[in-house]
Amino acid sequence: MIKNDSSLRTRVAIIGGGPSGLLLSQLLERAGVETVVLERKSREYVLSRIRAGVLESGMVELLREAGAGQRMDREGLVHEGIYLARANRGFRIDFRRHTGNSVMVYGQTELTRDLYQARDAMDANIVHEVEQVEIHAAQSPNPYVSFRHDGRECRLESDFVVGCDGFHGISRKTIDSSVLREFERVYPFGWLGLLSQTPPVSEELIYASHERGFALCSMRNPQLSRYYLQVPLEDSVEKWSDEAFWDELKRRIPAEAAETLVTGASIEKSIAPLRSFVAEPMRWGRLFLCGDAAHIVPPTGAKGLNLAASDVFYLSQALLRHYHDNDDSGLDDYSATALARVWKAERFSWSMTRLLHRFPEQSEFDLRMQQAEIDYLETSVAAQASLAENYVGLPY
Ligand code: FAD
Ligand code: DHB
Repeated sequence: MIKNDSSLRTRVAIIGGGPSGLLLSQLLERAGVETVVLERKSREYVLSRIRAGVLESGMVELLREAGAGQRMDREGLVHEGIYLARANRGFRIDFRRHTGNSVMVYGQTELTRDLYQARDAMDANIVHEVEQVEIHAAQSPNPYVSFRHDGRECRLESDFVVGCDGFHGISRKTIDSSVLREFERVYPFGWLGLLSQTPPVSEELIYASHERGFALCSMRNPQLSRYYLQVPLEDSVEKWSDEAFWDELKRRIPAEAAETLVTGASIEKSIAPLRSFVAEPMRWGRLFLCGDAAHIVPPTGAKGLNLAASDVFYLSQALLRHYHDNDDSGLDDYSATALARVWKAERFSWSMTRLLHRFPEQSEFDLRMQQAEIDYLETSVAAQASLAENYVGLPY
């Protein structure tokens, strides 16, 4: 709610009330730096999105630090490995053995709900259903954001503006085209996801490579399963009945798993395209980008949300140093520091995608290369350690 006047002032204006925006707002305010979050959608809409499910330990720590980790610590599932399968065989990558570390299975929807609750408890200023958001004077010491809310023209003045507004947001597009560089790969398939109130087929996630296409068995909790199928880009959700989905999943995962799979009605079903994307730089004057606003990874490897968290970590530290120690070195280094980690996660997500999917233009040679790489992973401790190191998350 905007009270009284339609003109506001804050220290850090945050555009986007998804996980990046909320986490940044929470970390800054807990350290005494005031923020305002502007979100295009309603809270209900933001909380209805079913997205990521796997948190690296760095993100788990950050949520605890933000005072938003209690429910995650109670209800999240600690996973110490994953299964890789092809045709009918599977093998396990043991994270604990190779890295001493683990990941937490806890849905983005729940995490976002926890962040909203933590923000409410601090009486946060989050303005929902804003329209026509525009960033002005980002290159000056006094940037501001204009927007419409409740039929009124509003203006939010600030020291800094942070674009946490996802891939389709306006923040990245504000950066002058002579400065902005974009790197992109679009993949020739999508992921059809299905959520069902059924017990997961396996205690740990199964990433399955199959001649009919990739499949992933994941979960949200012991009664809630999340499954994905690689599908052609032209497919629509309507084309996939629940029955067709389950039949296809059973074909692509090892027989042992297929036999014990419990099926049920879908709660949600959607298709997501796969894309690799990086925008450079992640800072332009007093405008900073975090999360999907600056980069997208294909979901294989579960890195998207986790990359948003490392950006937020670097930026929150840099802003706190600016306000508390009068030191701008973190802000000056932010883009280079964040991008160094982003590119490594891009590489990992791209390599997992390339390893496990069927590509329309794949030659027999390409197929043999894929098979050889999976063989190598199955038998090499060094290859397993490398996958595990990236999956649990590179340090920050
Ligand atoms: P977002 O979550 O996109 O949040 C941006 C927010 O900004 C939104 O609430 C949006 O409404 C708001 N916004 C947009 N434009 C404006 C504007 N002009 N003004 C104000 N607000 C605006 N990652 C994984 O790690 N694992 C997964 O399994 C996984 N699955 C995914 C499935 C799907 C279908 C999608 C789309 C993404 C998935 N991701 C996954 C990626 C992960 O969800 C994102 O990386 C994560 O949501 C990034 O958070 P964010 O806050 O940066 O962006
Ligand atoms: C989930 C999604 C992923 O992309 C992934 O690699 C693992 C899990 C999920 O939604 O549960």
